[in-house]
Amino acid sequence: MTTPSIETRSDQDRAKLAAGRFAARTHAFDGARLGLGSGTTSHYFVRALAELVADGLDVVGVPTSNGTRDLALELGITLVELDDVEQLDVCVDGPDEIDRDGAMIKGGGACLLWEKLVARTSATMVVVADHTKAVEQLGAFPLPIEVVQYSWGTTRRAVRRLLVEHGYPADVDLYRRERDGSPVVTDNGNFILDARLGTARDIEQLTVELNTIPGVVENGFFVGIADEVVFGWPDGTAGTF
Ligand code: 5RP
Repeated sequence: MTTPSIETRSDQDRAKLAAGRFAARTHAFDGARLGLGSGTTSHYFVRALAELVADGLDVVGVPTSNGTRDLALELGITLVELDDVEQLDVCVDGPDEIDRDGAMIKGGGACLLWEKLVARTSATMVVVADHTKAVEQLGAFPLPIEVVQYSWGTTRRAVRRLLVEHGYPADVDLYRRERDGSPVVTDNGNFILDARLGTARDIEQLTVELNTIPGVVENGFFVGIADEVVFGWPDGTAGTF
């Protein structure tokens, strides 16, 4: 597959590329231990990082998905296991939605569990986002909830009950499916439920309560985690907020 030139990329893709490159320029330093996010914007960061590594920058990375692991290894970035580091210096990862306070919904790529683990182990979490990810209120993007396969139906019913108690519609999809109809299985062997919230409220309480439901492994609210946000724009510029 050929890489599109900067002129033929979509507006959103140009913005993602700008954000990823900006984060690599501003946050990759010699000796850094870096969390490597998942999704297209994070992968632009990984590609830009690999160029710096090829020029002699000495870093190690911890990937947030098998996809990111494969990409980083292919590009020559040295990887270590999360458990082998006490703390990462910086994690760079993308949101599906982000509000003014830096609260996010993540997990559109089904990698939310490792993404949260890596972000929580990082001294600084840098969000890389194209301009379309900024929202006034979270919730238009369905909230991904990772659940164990064994009890996915039972867990889905419990999630629906909890949402109704919080005044939400009980609108939780069957497990997320691939194009061929087979279930999406996460890197941990779990399923993903997508909950349509409409407008998200009680986020901090909900994120705690969701994770207490047996069978829920993690949910896609990332609150109080982002330290810095890099937005990219279709004209190829990027900046921090
Ligand atoms: C994966 C994620 C991604 O980071 C999120 O979906 C953003 O992806 P993209 O940069 O492709 O828009 O949360 O689980």
